[in-house]
Amino acid sequence: MNPMSRRLSRATARLAALTLTAGLAATAAHAAGPVTDARPAFTPPTAASLPDSEFGKIVRQGEQIFLHTPQNAAKFVGNDLNCASCHLDAGRRADSAPMWAAYVLYPAYRAKNGHVNTLAERLQGCFRFSMNGKAPAADDPVLTALQTYMFWLASKAPTGVALKGQGYLKLPAPAQKADYVRGSEVYGQYCAVCHGDKGQGQKNGTHWVFPALWGPDSFNWGAGMHQIGNAAGFIKANMPLGQAGMLNDQEAWDVAYFMNAHERPQDPRYTESVAKTRAKYHDSDDSLYGLEINGHLLGSDSPAPGGKLVQAAAK
Ligand code: HEC
Ligand code: HEC
Repeated sequence: MNPMSRRLSRATARLAALTLTAGLAATAAHAAGPVTDARPAFTPPTAASLPDSEFGKIVRQGEQIFLHTPQNAAKFVGNDLNCASCHLDAGRRADSAPMWAAYVLYPAYRAKNGHVNTLAERLQGCFRFSMNGKAPAADDPVLTALQTYMFWLASKAPTGVALKGQGYLKLPAPAQKADYVRGSEVYGQYCAVCHGDKGQGQKNGTHWVFPALWGPDSFNWGAGMHQIGNAAGFIKANMPLGQAGMLNDQEAWDVAYFMNAHERPQDPRYTESVAKTRAKYHDSDDSLYGLEINGHLLGSDSPAPGGKLVQAAAK
């Protein structure tokens, strides 16, 4: 999501929170404060309550696609990430852009593409960018199953309301400008043990144990996680895995900057040149695409988007 659309959806979230909170005047001062606490809490249903029916069967399919995406939606996935690599606990965890909170916010206007997106279109974007793959048709069984899973997770949640835990954490701006060298130190100390010293992730045979953070097997330059703000919020709340909360805000910003200062698959919206693509889609402090870092122009040496899908087609 670009900063504009994030600002927009934050604004929507705040507005919803404000309308819900009696006695809170909708002033700029209030909007900038910790209104997040006013968002209503929600707990998704437990797996045990899933009905043993035709409907329940599709919910389970959706969950399996979410957890093991390359295996269960192979035609549409170009890397080895799962939806659950970035939306933890099968899309249930708060502050990890949980699916129950997302479900009730669509259809929604997105500045990323300048129109109201249905949930199906939103999910198509996940495949194209985060999965470095190809968008399934809006009525494809893969999207039906994912939406059915999300609908079930959101059972009895209010519609159109930003719930507590929706999206990723939004960290306050860092005290010091995010920095590559400090980020590389954080990375070496806390991340490389799982994600590899080159961000390449780790496989056990053909089975991926730790996902790639950059390089050919990661998400592409069009994905929301390439934006430093999204990555910093995700990392602060969720990484190192099992020890979340260990990094302070500055460290989260620095390591997010470092991670996103490396090459990854090309933005599938690439047009004409890196400079023009930056001007059109990446013109913000949140994206390093098209900037020169350590003597390398990011985006100038990106593998073609589509990963495995393209490689398979070329064989
Ligand atoms: C103990 C191993 C471990 C450590 C240490 C760790 N991670 Fe992760 N990380 C994971 C796993 C596993 C996932 C996928 C989540 C899942 O499947 O539940 C993940 C997912 C991610 C993702 C999203 C998926 C992707 O590939 O882009 C990012 C970004 C990330 N980690 C960044 C970091 C950063 C930055 C650090 C250091 C501060 C870090 N991780 C430390 C294991 C780890
Ligand atoms: C590399 C990490 C990553 C992967 C993999 C990923 N996502 Fe996301 N997702 C994000 C980020 C970051 C955002 C928020 C920023 C944005 O909108 O671009 C997001 C946002 C979303 C949203 C909107 C959330 C909201 O509250 O509005 C949905 C729905 C979603 N993802 C579903 C999926 C599905 C389904 C998959 C698998 C097909 C998937 N994502 C794979 C990182 C990821």
